This record gives sequence, C-alpha cells and structure tokens, in this order.
Amino acid sequence: MGKYTLDMKKYAALGRAVSAESSVLLKNDAQALPVKSGETVSVFGRIQFNYYKSGTGSGGMVNTKYVTGILDALKACEDITIDGELLDIYEKWVTEQPFDQGKGWGQEPWSQQEMPLTDEIVEAAAKRSDIAIVIIGRTAGEDQDNKAEKGSYLLSDLEEEMLQKVCRHFKRTAVVLNVGNILDMKWVDKYDPQAVLYVWQGGMEGGNGAVDVLTGRINPSGKLPDTIAGDISDYPSTGNFGDADEVFYAEDIYVGYRYFETFAKDRVLYPFGFGLSYTEFAAGITSFEVGEEKVSLSVEVTNRGGTAGKEVIQIFVSAPQGKLGKPVRSLAAFEKTKLLQPGERELLSFTLLKKDMASYDDGGCTGYKSCYVLEAGKYVIYAGSDVRSAGPAGSFEIDETVVTERLQEALAPVKPFKRLKAVGTADGIDTGSEIARAEEAVPLRTINLTERIKINRPDGVPYKGDRGIRLESVYDRKAAMDDFLSQLSDEDLACMVRGEGMCSPKVTPGTAAAFGGVTESLRKFGIPVGCCADGPSGIRMDCGTHAFSLPNGTAAAATFNTGLIEELFEMLGLELRKNQIDTLLGPGMNIHRNPLNGRNFEYFSEDPLLTGKMAAAQLRGMHRHGATGTIKHFAANNQEFRRSFIDSVISERALREIYLKGFKIAVDEGQAFLVMSTYGSLNGLWTAGNYDLLTTVLRQEWGFDGLVMTDWWAKINDEGGDGRLDNTAAMIRGQNDVYMVVSDSLTNSGRDNTLEGLERSMVTRGELQRAAGNICRALMKLPVMDRYLGRLSEEETADIWQTEPEEKSTSGLSCIPVGDQLVIDVSNVNTDRGSDAMFGLELTEHCIYTLNFKIRAISSELAQLPMSIFINQHLIKIVTINGSANGEWIDSSLEIGPYRSKCAYLRLFFGQSGMELGELKITCKRE
Ligand code: BGC
Repeated sequence: MGKYTLDMKKYAALGRAVSAESSVLLKNDAQALPVKSGETVSVFGRIQFNYYKSGTGSGGMVNTKYVTGILDALKACEDITIDGELLDIYEKWVTEQPFDQGKGWGQEPWSQQEMPLTDEIVEAAAKRSDIAIVIIGRTAGEDQDNKAEKGSYLLSDLEEEMLQKVCRHFKRTAVVLNVGNILDMKWVDKYDPQAVLYVWQGGMEGGNGAVDVLTGRINPSGKLPDTIAGDISDYPSTGNFGDADEVFYAEDIYVGYRYFETFAKDRVLYPFGFGLSYTEFAAGITSFEVGEEKVSLSVEVTNRGGTAGKEVIQIFVSAPQGKLGKPVRSLAAFEKTKLLQPGERELLSFTLLKKDMASYDDGGCTGYKSCYVLEAGKYVIYAGSDVRSAGPAGSFEIDETVVTERLQEALAPVKPFKRLKAVGTADGIDTGSEIARAEEAVPLRTINLTERIKINRPDGVPYKGDRGIRLESVYDRKAAMDDFLSQLSDEDLACMVRGEGMCSPKVTPGTAAAFGGVTESLRKFGIPVGCCADGPSGIRMDCGTHAFSLPNGTAAAATFNTGLIEELFEMLGLELRKNQIDTLLGPGMNIHRNPLNGRNFEYFSEDPLLTGKMAAAQLRGMHRHGATGTIKHFAANNQEFRRSFIDSVISERALREIYLKGFKIAVDEGQAFLVMSTYGSLNGLWTAGNYDLLTTVLRQEWGFDGLVMTDWWAKINDEGGDGRLDNTAAMIRGQNDVYMVVSDSLTNSGRDNTLEGLERSMVTRGELQRAAGNICRALMKLPVMDRYLGRLSEEETADIWQTEPEEKSTSGLSCIPVGDQLVIDVSNVNTDRGSDAMFGLELTEHCIYTLNFKIRAISSELAQLPMSIFINQHLIKIVTINGSANGEWIDSSLEIGPYRSKCAYLRLFFGQSGMELGELKITCKRE
C-alpha cells in the first residue's frame, strides 16, 4: 500500500454520506416519508433513468466508472418493492425517447422531455403501491444560465400534469428534486404533495444518498443554502440579471435572505437555513456572555422525537440600522450536532467576534470612509434552525461608533447608479418598528488608480544570466528568490506567465493546464511544471480517465457540515496526488446572487459565510495530502450569459461584505494560495488584470502571497480600454500571474503583448519578475516540487498515476490496410459526450504515418471540446478546440510512429458533445 492508495469504498461511502446529509426535506405531511420496509413504491419521472450527477460545462465533465441514480438505489433496497408495471411503461417510453444531450457545449437542455401520463396509468399504479416518488431533474451550467421558463426554473407542462395526476390518485406522494439549483416552488401549494425533498446533484453516489434519506436509513439534516421565494421576480437581483453589457448590482448587500428578511418577509416560501427532519429537536440558549471583543453563547439541542438525527444551529446577528443601513439578519456562525439518539442532548458553543459584525462604510456617512465600523446601538444575536425561526439569544450595546478596521478605497465603481438601502431606527429590529426601503447614490471611485499602480511598480533585479542557481536552492533556503529570478531573461519571464493547455502533454493527460516550467529553458533552471484540473466536484480528465464525482457545491453547502466536507475532500486530495495533479480548479465560490445563474450548482450559497467556510473545509481536506484547490472565480462571476463581455457594476460595500468575503475566509481559514480570476469585468476593469482586486485587496489587505491565474482565454484591459485576449502586459501589472491558456508558450502562440509591453514600458521587468516569483513560490508549495526533484518516498510514488489502459473490446473490428493513404469514412461517427469511434488499421508499410483530420464546433468561443486519439490503448494526443460562430473547419495532423502493426486500432474518444469530424485520413510518409 502506498501513501496515496485510494480506498474507493471509503470514498464512495463519504460521497454517499454527503449526498444524504445534503438532502433538504421541505415538507413531510403526516410522515409521508420515509418509505417503510415492506412498502411498494411507484416511481414517476423519466429522470429516474438519467440521474444528474452534476450540471454541465467544465464543472460537469468528470468521467466516472458508474453513476448510481435514484432508481438504481431504490432497486437495491431489498425491503421495498418497485412497481414493476409502471417501470415497464417508463422503460419502453424512454427507449423511444432517449436522453437528449443537445448539440454540444452549453446546449444540453435544462430538462428532458417528460413522459405523458394518463389517469388510468396513475390510478392503476396507486392501487398497486403505497407511495409515489416523483423525480424531477434539471441541469444548467457554463455558458447556459437557467431561464424563468417552463422546463428550466419552472416546471414543464408535462411535469405539472404528472404532479397533478399523481397527487390526485396517490395518498402519499414524495417529490424528489435532482437539481443543481433551487426551482420555482409554486406547485407545492397547487398540487399539495405530502413530501418534498431537494436532493441536488449528488455526484456518482448521489442516488444512494437520496435513497438513504427516502427510506429513513439516514434522517435528513440538510438545510437550504438559499432562500426560496414565491416567484423569480421576488429576488431583488432579477431585474438586473442577464443583461448583455452591464449588470448593475442595485440590490447591493441585500442578497438572498438579507433582502427578504429585511424588506419582503412575506415573499418567502422556504427561508434560508430551513430543512425538516424525521425527528423533532428542541434548542435552548444555555449561556450568553458578552466580552470586550467577543460574544460567547451555547445552545443545547435535544432530540425530542423517536428517531436519531442531526440538527444545525445557525446564529444570526442583527446590527443597528445606524447611518449605513443593515440587513436585519446576517449569518454569524453555524454548527451541526453529532447524530443525536432520541432523548440525547448536545451543547454547541459559539464564539463570535464583534469585529465580524462590522459594516463597511464606502461613502463616509459614518465619518469613517473606507473603514469597517460597528455603529452605535444595539446588536441582537439570534439562534435557531433557520433564519426565520431563529429567536433572540441576547444582545449588547455599542455606545459610540467603533472603527474595527481601516482600509483604503478599492474597487469602487465608476458608473453612477442607485442602490437599495434600509432605513430604520437604531433599535428597529428589536422594537419591531418598520424598516423602510430607500435608495441612495452609490459612492463612486475617488482615487486615481493609475497613480496607485505607479507607486507599486517594482524595478526588479537586473538580468545577470545563468549563475547556476536552481529553484531547488531557493526551496532549500540556500539561495534568495531575487538572485534566482535575476537569471531569467525577458523571454523566459514572458514564457513563464503563459499556462499551456488544454490537455498539455507536459502534465497528466486530459487536464486543463500546465504552468511554471513550460519551456525547456525554464526547466533548465529547475522550474517544474505544475498541473491543474477541473473541478470543482471531481477531477476532469478529458481523455476518459475515470475519477470520482462528488456531490456538487450547493449540495455540500446544504449539509452545513464542514467536518464531513473536509473528510470527503481529503479523499479528493489523495486522488489528486495519485493522478499527479497539483491543484483542483475549485472550489467554485461565487455567490448565488440569483437562482438563474447556470453555474450555481458549482457554487455554495447566497451567504458569504457559509460559502467561505465550505471552501475552507474543502481546501483543508485537500491540504491534508499536500494537494490544493484554486478558488474561483475571483470575483463576482454571477452570470453566464455574455460572461466575458459584461461589466459588473457593484458598490465597494457589496463587494467587501458579500462578493469578496467568502474568498477572504478561504484565504484566511483555508490557506488558499491559488486563485482564478474571472472572464468578466468588474467596475470597468476585467478581473484578470484588475489591480485593486488582485493587488490592493487580495495581496496587500489579505496578505495573500500565492498565484493568480486567469480563467481560460480570459480578456484583460487597460483602464478605459476594451478587453483583449492578448493584453498580458495589463494582466501582469495587475498581478494576475498566469494567462490560461495558450497552446505553445515558447512560440507565443497566443500572440500576447508581454515583451512588447516591456519595450514600451507598459509593464516593467520588476512586475514580470514579481509574477514569476509568485509562480515559483506557489510551485514550491505544491507536490510537483518534490516530484520534480525526485524527493518523493517510495511510499509516496507507489500509487502515482500510470496510464491505466482502458480495455476496449475490438471484437468485430476488421483491419483495413492503410497502404499509401486511407480515407476513413466518418459520416457515421457519433461525437456525443463519452462516445468512442474505433477503426482497425493495418499499418504494415515502412513509414511514418500521418493522421489528418478536420474538426469544428459551431458553438461559443469559450466552449471546450476535446477529442482524444489513442492507438491501441496508448493515448497519442488530445486535441481541444473552442467553438466558433461560423463553424470554420480546423485542419489538424499528427504523426504516428514509425509504427508497424498487422492490426492496430485507432480510437477517438469525445469528452464533450458538439464537435464535428469532417474528414479523417491516414497517410504513409516514406523516409
Ligand atoms: C471555466 C473555469 C474552468 C476552466 C478550465 C473555464 O471555462 O470558467 O471554471 O476551470 O474553464 O476548464
């Protein structure tokens, strides 16, 4: 056994446990759930055959050995019977209506067509069964937001009909939602099913987790990480979501429950933090103490019911409205109990720092501009099992406004707009007086950014040529970083800030990027090549290598169990080590600003504290084995539509209190040292070169000394200029260290302007060295450093990734002589996600064979479409293309051999739907 041996049983059990703990029971009239031993279940909904383990896009491309869906898991329950007649009807229908993958990247439909049901079918099923389980599924993802339309955020007509009929004929109906994101829930009132359970997208073990809860093996303890309101129009961001060029965050800090609890309580169907159990808990405050700097309280939780279960206690703070205006509740802490047996109690203790209750004054209305302040007045602490039912636990007074942190203005918007503001009396919440909804002009930028950047432009160290210092010496503290960097030429430095991918042959096959020592010259200085792979819920390897698919971000957050998430991610840390991958591209930690964001499934919650704590737990888990994560997308990447074009216009206060806060927690508590910026622009500057974001806030304020990479093919601009793919000079100035990705760093295949920028003083050598230093420091913290230096112990290398040839059946494959040239008929090749095309070839001539092919994808420019080429079981190359609107054909070729084989098979594997193969020929080139 090596150090990174993966105990797959343990991994699966943890994935399953997280999926079960994430399930949120919203309704359970007359104890409709759990399904009892000996009962017969009728399962409705076609998604019973097509469980969504995740959403779509880069975060959904984990190749798994299996996926256990809800039906599979139900079938495995020996003590319950599945209504076979109904199942037959569905099976037949689904064979005729196979799963529709859509036309490729970002094109998979949000939902699959539902089977029409007649009253007779349902009535007959009701007679045979004790309970109906109706499964409804949804997907969305990169480049595809949800829409407030039927079949996406709303139920489709056929789904409504299904619910209506099932609820009419069955006495017990449980609706199970296999979704990445909350849905419109008006149908609950309309059809009145007895039970409703969100099971999210739980990864490859998701079905098992869901069924553990459905059958009562596990008592549900998941809580809503987002508020479910009556209608999509109730969310304060909806009016400003989905715009094509600029998105004004007019709701400001009032995101999710912060808005609803303050201004629109009556619009909430299910509050933040809500989730039922099969048992009942009582919670009582047993102590509340106020100190100089902190507040301590304990809550005793008792299981009053007859079933063992876990409960979550959430602590909220209500700060006085003061001059700034405040949300009436902000999550300050949470804790989950252990499994409490009936009658058992547990005391949960919380310590809250007063400084964490402070608000940021971006305009100076308190007299303290750019400071975090505790305004004078009464601070009330609430405790409970969701935001609405949490009751007062105690309070303290602040006599005079206190400054808790003095910062400098950063990231303030330049475009004027109005934001929402709460106005009320100092003790408004406690005395029950109304909070009024007001509007105010957002404070705009007052600093001169160009001047700020100028002050912090290091000159760097002069170029001294190769002095024999290798990175190893810096690693071993025998040489200083500056001396090391002085040896790198401008050309070397320019190469270093280019990450290579996708699917670089320099790192683990099928992964997203290689970075660091991407050229021969850099490697001569002992700079290793780091490897990163998507993320965030399992490892994506586009050549088809299998990996474990974990419950998605929203599911993780719904557990409210950081300890369990840390344990699961420890397994992922091992898996990364085993595959020689240094960092996962995740956790994804953007705020669920609006339910329609397509990538919400990858992210955690509408609340920044829950988001930050979950990300920190995932990082800590991976760190246990020396691997890490890249927190993304920094920051405010809250919509997919035109994500690389839009400018998000956000107040400095909302940024600091909502959109950056989770990232800060991940840096402070999770020791994140890798960050990915976004595709979009934030207050006029594309984040991939946004100095205030990446230098002033991230590095200077938070003390981050790691590496920042761009998102894949991101744009960068100079102030006032347009976003461009090649503007690495601005990127480096902002302290985004690596541009992701180019196909060849040495030849500057992305035609970036780094060297031109040096010549024209748009960037200094010092700035470039600073980026190189950030990259080197990060590499030295990653497993690749010891790997490169051959310092891993035998135990550590024992499990390290080796090509695990996937056995493919070649039976029935005849081998066609290639001769001088063979044109292969590709008209019938299926290029859908996960498909293989196999051809038998006689390669018996004395020659080097060249494979020529034409491929294209009519899709978005940010689409990622990989095709892996294998000869027998050997991976020869992975070609990844982006999409284009006009669908120009891309000619590509590669040499195989010299190779002689009576019968070799050529296998093409398509990791994502949407690629077209136009031509494929193999030619013999005699020497
Ligand atoms: C996504 C990132 C991802 C990267 C690499 C981008 O399209 O936005 O989240 O990590 O691709 O696949």
